[in-house]
Amino acid sequence: MRSTPRPGAVSSTVRRGLVAAAVLALGSTAAVATATSASAAVSCKVNYSASEWQGGMSANLTIQNLGDALNGWTLTFSFPNSSQKVSQGWSGNWSQSGSNVTVTAMDWNKSLATGGSTSIGFNGTWSGSNPAPSDFKINGVSCNGTPQSPSPSPSVSPSVSPSASPSPRVSPSASPSPRVSPSASPSPSASPSTSPPPPGTHVDNPYADATGYVNPDWSASAKSEPGGSRVANISTAIWLDRIAAISSGSAGNNSMGLRDHLDEAVRQDEANGSAPLTIQVVIYDLPNRDCSALASNGELKIAQDGLARYKSEYIDVIAGIMADSKYSNLRIVTVIEPDSLPNLITNVSNFQACQEAQSSGAYVQGVQYALNKLHAIKNVYTYVDAAHHAWLGWDNNFQPMVNLFYQVATGTTAGVNSIDGFIVNTANFAALTEPYFNINTTVNGQSVRQSHWVDWNWYVDESSFATGLRNALISKGFPNTIGMLVDTSRNGWGGSARPTKASTSTDVNTFVNESRVDRRIHAGNWCNQSGAGMGERPKANPAAGFDAYVWIKPPGESDGSSSAIDNDEGKGFDRMCDPTYTGNSLNGNNMSGALGGAPVSGHWFSAQFQQLMQNAYPPLS
Ligand code: BGC
Repeated sequence: MRSTPRPGAVSSTVRRGLVAAAVLALGSTAAVATATSASAAVSCKVNYSASEWQGGMSANLTIQNLGDALNGWTLTFSFPNSSQKVSQGWSGNWSQSGSNVTVTAMDWNKSLATGGSTSIGFNGTWSGSNPAPSDFKINGVSCNGTPQSPSPSPSVSPSVSPSASPSPRVSPSASPSPRVSPSASPSPSASPSTSPPPPGTHVDNPYADATGYVNPDWSASAKSEPGGSRVANISTAIWLDRIAAISSGSAGNNSMGLRDHLDEAVRQDEANGSAPLTIQVVIYDLPNRDCSALASNGELKIAQDGLARYKSEYIDVIAGIMADSKYSNLRIVTVIEPDSLPNLITNVSNFQACQEAQSSGAYVQGVQYALNKLHAIKNVYTYVDAAHHAWLGWDNNFQPMVNLFYQVATGTTAGVNSIDGFIVNTANFAALTEPYFNINTTVNGQSVRQSHWVDWNWYVDESSFATGLRNALISKGFPNTIGMLVDTSRNGWGGSARPTKASTSTDVNTFVNESRVDRRIHAGNWCNQSGAGMGERPKANPAAGFDAYVWIKPPGESDGSSSAIDNDEGKGFDRMCDPTYTGNSLNGNNMSGALGGAPVSGHWFSAQFQQLMQNAYPPLS
């Protein structure tokens, strides 16, 4: 995989999203809920936070139950401004009459234990101003954030409690000190936000508080290498790179099929205690796959009914397995079709296979079909591939890509909600962060954008690219719940060649070349890059807007063979994987920078694995 980028001409400025965050947390004023013997004593708190842009908003509400356990709830509130409208809500049944909004619980979140919480949200519109609502009620009772409690007075006495639900540990004898107050008591509200959602709930970030699935196949390959046990327990993705991989495992050294992996994931989950488990599966078999390169060409061809086969023999089978109820507690992350939609933006005019992918609609329809099937499974998460900064970071590519993502999403059954997020740098080598310069750095009056390396791109690394892309996608109409992933499996760039400070050169090219940690010959080089190292270890919530750093490309698996090798996987020989190749216009006619001696893509490449460990950054301990 990994086609080369095609820099666009520099014209207009990249449109950035206007995202204003407004957070309203209701204050807690003392109040004692009234209760009758017939109904639960209701006490609640609602946190409301919204991102807004001109005319639009996306809001999240967290309902905390501070009273008796609820089995069924209705939330009401009113918008202060009559122009504010809910256009689409989630995790509840939403309706609006005038300014009054009513949300009733879904089956799966109607039970709220004492101290429990649930998150719901909506996308909406407004004009004029967009003030936050504040009159939240659950089952008709105002949510003012106070636990249903014994008494607001410092002398706690169970006799004044309106119900029996406060903790039994609160008793006169246990609280002789006047310092004991309701808030200091072991009340149910002590940490409602830390209670994990029930297993199988579709959460905003599937990586949060979760452990990652360790692929036994990859782990065994890693362990077979000297020093490999240092990384062998890191979570890496499963690649379903052909129909046969669903049942019998993938290419190369891999032996397990999808069910084998999910069964093993259930086993790891159960052995793990209470933390949920996240398993990552790459969906990678579109017809005319890897249309602008050869190394990862696949088995299906558009001209041979490939789209129909993709749907019925590939996606339907995968979705059928993932929907099995025995896997419903797992968080299954899918990475959807690396490189495919980006190829439609940049490579249609030069590559016949991409042209066919576009004119037939096969890529768009294939991705939409996958999204429809996978999003429909509650515990499956969808992340669509968005290439990397040195592919899409130019004006001519960036906004058209955002528009295409939006068009693809709005053509699915659930619209923009069928996508949980986007992933950048899948199987690529671009640095997460360039520590010694950024896009605004100038050298002797010249912008780093003028250097050969940056070449008028608007981004110098994946962190800034993913952030810019997310903002633009939200501006375009995606909800602000979308989160970004970065594949950091091979973008570490440590070792002795890593610069340790900014260059002092006053020549912009020398400055950038001496300062950059990405040591590739050209940022368009993508195959088995010499000098690369393992990058950041997988990590949830690493920065605002990012769901996780992840290892999608399993380190040690080749990107493509360095010379032609016969194989039955449809893989071709791409000269970008040949270390003697002197390049083409797509990589500025530079050397390929590929390591020699590489096997076919997906197969184990020991020498590369060793170098990736050696040059890991952060270094391996
Ligand atoms: C290959 C796949 C392989 C994946 C992960 C891709 O480049 O085409 O066959 O499963 O990399 O190594």
